[in-house]
Parts: sequence; structure tokens; C-alpha cells
Amino acid sequence: MARIETSSNRPYHLVIFGASGFTGQFVVEEVARTVSEGPKGNMKWAVAGRSRQKLEKVLEQAAGVLGKPELRTQVDVIIADVGEPDSLAAMCKQAVIVLNCVGPYRFYGEPVVKACVENGAHHIDISGEPQFLESMQLNYNSQAAEKGIFIIGSCGFDSIPADMGVLYTRDQFKGTLTSVESFLTVNSGSEGGCIHDGTWQSAIYGLSDRQKLPSLRRKFNHKPLPVVGPKLKRRGALFYSNEIQQYAVPFIGSDPAVVKRTQRFLTEEHQATPVQYGAYAGVGGLGNIFKLIFAGMMFWFLVKFSFGRSLLTKYPEFFSFGFFSKAGPTRKQMEASSFRFSIYGEGYTEDQDPSQGKPNAKIRTVVQGPEVGYVATPIAMVQAALTILNEPAALPKKGGVYTPGGAFAKTTLIDRLNKHGIQFSVI
Ligand SMILES: NC(=O)c1ccc[n+]([C@@H]2O[C@H](COP(=O)([O-])OP(=O)(O)OC[C@H]3O[C@@H](n4cnc5c(N)ncnc54)[C@H](OP(=O)(O)O)[C@@H]3O)[C@@H](O)[C@H]2O)c1
Repeated sequence: MARIETSSNRPYHLVIFGASGFTGQFVVEEVARTVSEGPKGNMKWAVAGRSRQKLEKVLEQAAGVLGKPELRTQVDVIIADVGEPDSLAAMCKQAVIVLNCVGPYRFYGEPVVKACVENGAHHIDISGEPQFLESMQLNYNSQAAEKGIFIIGSCGFDSIPADMGVLYTRDQFKGTLTSVESFLTVNSGSEGGCIHDGTWQSAIYGLSDRQKLPSLRRKFNHKPLPVVGPKLKRRGALFYSNEIQQYAVPFIGSDPAVVKRTQRFLTEEHQATPVQYGAYAGVGGLGNIFKLIFAGMMFWFLVKFSFGRSLLTKYPEFFSFGFFSKAGPTRKQMEASSFRFSIYGEGYTEDQDPSQGKPNAKIRTVVQGPEVGYVATPIAMVQAALTILNEPAALPKKGGVYTPGGAFAKTTLIDRLNKHGIQFSVI
């Protein structure tokens, strides 16, 4: 089947599903800000969800925040519910791309992916849940490929900065890059900051089900990726990082799993040299470590039982020391927050054979940007969608279920992100 192109006569380039959610409202604002970047300088879009009243309120709010009163009257509202497949089909038939903000994806994601594949819409999500992302690949990759549909997961802060950051580092390296470590630091200005409950819930159920990942992965029957250069050593569970001058822990989000899938795709489909990857996050000084150990132990214990999960779900602030909250961050907190990925790579110069001896060259790059959850994530998601709309020839030849790096390696996504405040640079 022919690929659904930007020029198809569907009424909307983009439909934002879950526009009434905490993240969805900021995706709405980001789309409204970037309409002139659509194909031929325009973009037709609509909001979708299960409550007309909430969706109209989101448009009203965006109209006020952006000083664009026309949003109240000119953006269509589509009613669709994850539990009603006909409503999802009707929504997907109207869109070139569905921007899916309805999570936790493990509970609500699959029917939307299925409806997109069956009704010919591309799908972009901001899931950071490896189990969901990989089961979509297992279940829908062939169908999506047959239909020329792109299902591209983890297009938010999880995991565009890390996945595209590794590709950027590889492309800037003069020679063969063989390994990369990234160190994430997040700064929340004087107002503090937090992450909304939606992500907390995704984390609770994601971690409680983590033991199912190995058996899911075995179903792919993958051969191990070749290791080029020395095997990248894993750091400890807690260590002092000289790179970022603070204590750090392994990053438990989706980045390592997403980067690995991208590297596999590029190695198997494009004969690229796989880059080994280790992801770490800074936790600050000793005071934070005690909090982290205490919160971590409580979380790991409670997440195993349904009673514990319901406690965690009810009281996010208490169990996360205020890091997650039902209200989410304020706009003021968001304005003062930022992130920085410090990336350290090593490999072999062009005149050196990567199968012989030790790596003889290093590179340092940085990906930095605004607040992670509700500023950087909408920017990344919307720029991913604009890349599909504007650069169809630079996408992989076949449709399928892709990681950001797999789908966008040959596009100008990084340049687009640079222009929108998510900056990639060599230092
Ligand atoms: N990648 C990243 O870095 C990143 C950043 C931010 C968020 N996220 C992810 O994005 C997801 C959403 O987070 P959030 O904080 O925005 O959550 P949220 O505020 O709870 O929003 C959930 C949305 O899903 C909708 N929804 C729930 N059940 C539905 C159903 N049966 N049919 C249709 N819509 C339904 C809700 O609609 P109603 O308004 O009608 O209830 C709401 O619009 C989470 O999975 C989170 O982890 C990822």
C-alpha cells in the first residue's frame, strides 16, 4: 500500500489525542506555535479526547496564553475514547499523524497504535515504557511496514535527546565511534520543580512489570550485537562522577533500551558500527543520596504489591519527596528548569583499524534544553511530527515501528530541535 503522504486529502495533518491531559495541553500550545512550519507554511490540526468540555477548555487556555483567540473557534474537536474502537478508527481516518498523549501507554496505548495501523495514520507517542514500546514493535512492525505507516515511539524527553544525541556524537566524530556514556543533570531554578502524576503512574506500573521484559525480548530472536572496541564497563549503582562533579546513578528510564534498538536497526539495516551506550543521571550531593536511597527502597518494596501500588498512586508527593505531584509543575517552575546531557564518546580515528588495539580518540558533546517534561517533550514530539510531514523522502524506505534514531537518522530533526531550544553541540 502507498505511504500516507503529507499531501493526502485527510482533513488534518495532526490530531493531538489526549489533548486534555497535563502534557497534552502543552503539546497543543506547541502545535499552535509552529503551524507555519507545516507543509507549504501551514498545518491543519485538531484536538481529540473523551471530554469535549475539557478539550474546549484547553483550547480556551491556549488561546489566552498565546494571544491567539482564533484557537477557540478554528481548531476542531474530535471525541474519541480508548475503550471505543470505532471512535479511534474515525479519529485515525482523519489524520495524517496522530500525536498520542494518552498514558500510561501500557494501559491505553495499544488500541491507538492498532487503530492507526488499520486506518492509515502515522503515530507518534511520548512513552518512556520499554515494555510498551517493544511489544508494539513485536506486534505491529510487519503490518505497519506493509501499509507504509510509521509508528514512532519515545519521541519526548524520553528518548529523543539521548537517542539523537548518540547519533549526533557519532556523526561529529572523525573516525569510528564505538562507545558513549551520557550523564544527565537537571536544574530546577529557585522555584523548584516536579513531574506530573501521569509519568509517576507509568513508572509504578512499568517497574512492577519489569520482569516480563526479558521474555518479551527473547521473542525477537535477536543475535547479540557485535561489540566493536573494548566492552564498555558499567559503572556502579552509585558513584561519584568526575564528568559532572556530583554523585550519579544508572539512568532507569527508557534511554538505554531505545538507543540499543536504534543501534541494532542501523547495524542490521545500514551496516553501521554499533555504538555501545551507558546512561547515568546526576543526583547531586550526599543529602540527596540519602533521600534517593530511602525513596528508592520504599518504591521497590511497595511496587511489588497491589496495596503498595495503590499507596504509591495515591500519594506521589510523599513517596517521591515532592519529585512527582498530582498538580504537576507550575509554569513559573517550568520556565526556570533546564536539562543537560553531557556525552562522552570514544573510538578510533580514520587511520586506525577499530578491530585492533585501544581506542585512540575521544569526543565530548552536549544536548541541552528547557524543562524536560512539558517544554522539551512537546518541542521534541512536535518537531518529530513536522519532520515526517516535511521530509518524507528522508525517512526509512519502509514503514514500521521505529525508534526516533531509526526513523530520523537521515532527516534534519537535530537542526529543527536546535532552532527550538534543544541544542546539540560539540565541546
Ligand atoms: N517522554 C517524556 O519525557 C514524557 C513527558 C511527559 C509525559 N509523558 C507521558 O505522557 C503520558 C501522559 O502523561 P500526563 O502527565 O499528561 O497524564 P494525564 O494528565 O493523566 O493525561 C492523560 C490523558 O489521557 C486521557 N485518557 C485517559 N483515559 C482515556 C481514555 N480511555 N480515552 C481517551 N483518553 C483517555 C486523559 O483524558 P481526560 O482528560 O478525559 O481524563 C488525559 O487527556 C504518560 O504516559 C507520561 O509518562 C512522557
